Amino acid sequence: MQRSILITGASSGIGAALARELARRGHRLALTARRLDHLHSLAEELRAAHGVQVEVAALDVRQLDQVAVTLTALAARLAGLDIVVANAGIAGSHRTGNGDIALDRRILETNYLGAVATLDAATALFRQNGHGRLVGMSSIAAWLPLPGSGSYCASKAALTAYLDCARIELAKHGISVLAIHPGFIATEIAADMERYPFVISADKAAVSMADAILASATQLIVPAWPWRWLVPVAGRLPAAWLARWF
Ligand SMILES: NC(=O)c1ccc[n+]([C@@H]2O[C@H](COP(=O)([O-])OP(=O)(O)OC[C@H]3O[C@@H](n4cnc5c(N)ncnc54)[C@H](OP(=O)(O)O)[C@@H]3O)[C@@H](O)[C@H]2O)c1
Repeated sequence: MQRSILITGASSGIGAALARELARRGHRLALTARRLDHLHSLAEELRAAHGVQVEVAALDVRQLDQVAVTLTALAARLAGLDIVVANAGIAGSHRTGNGDIALDRRILETNYLGAVATLDAATALFRQNGHGRLVGMSSIAAWLPLPGSGSYCASKAALTAYLDCARIELAKHGISVLAIHPGFIATEIAADMERYPFVISADKAAVSMADAILASATQLIVPAWPWRWLVPVAGRLPAAWLARWF
């Protein structure tokens, strides 16, 4: 069945790879990000390659009052939405005690409040239809303490907790919730992603993510190995091992 799927942060990395994978499977897409030129080129590529409808709109998810406005406009252009993926996010690391919390604020506003605004706006649309699927792009960082990335880890832990609450709250309204927890995926999010442990390509990650999004999964850890086994003991991993990588 062809579905209408909105993805935030689709101008690069995981969002763009997911858009390519979902278009390849024949789904209609609405793509948002701040870099509208990137979205236009991606949309043209996907329309030409797969003949699917692709709508785009500029959206900075930190502009919280613009999120519902943009989602509503895109939903109208696609004649409704079935699935919304709150994917937009940033990383950023600095050592604790440097006296600058502007980056911490930006991370929380983008990764947590921006995602909450997206999921909240999607829920309002889904409640009118009586069905829908929310997807949040969290991270194994929700559970794995990464030195230098305290606010990034906190933003993802908060998002995971929000998704877990929403799943229980919204089930009776016919709305399902998937939390995706990627490990390390080679994207623009950090300049040196290739050096991170067990890194995989965004294209490879997108195949597993699309499978989970289109099924009824509630959780996805990707790549599964070794994170599905390491995550339960993440808080007890030797600090020296973590400090070596990060
Ligand atoms: N790569 C990894 O290893 C990894 C692991 C776990 C989780 N994740 C999560 O996966 C998601 C995608 O990241 P990625 O790795 O694909 O990185 P990426 O290539 O840097 O993509 C990030 C996307 O988010 C968008 N974005 C950033 N700030 C935004 C804002 N204020 N408003 C709207 N869009 C914004 C960017 O678009 P514009 O700049 O055009 O706005 C871009 O499309 C993030 O939530 C990230 O935390 C990534």
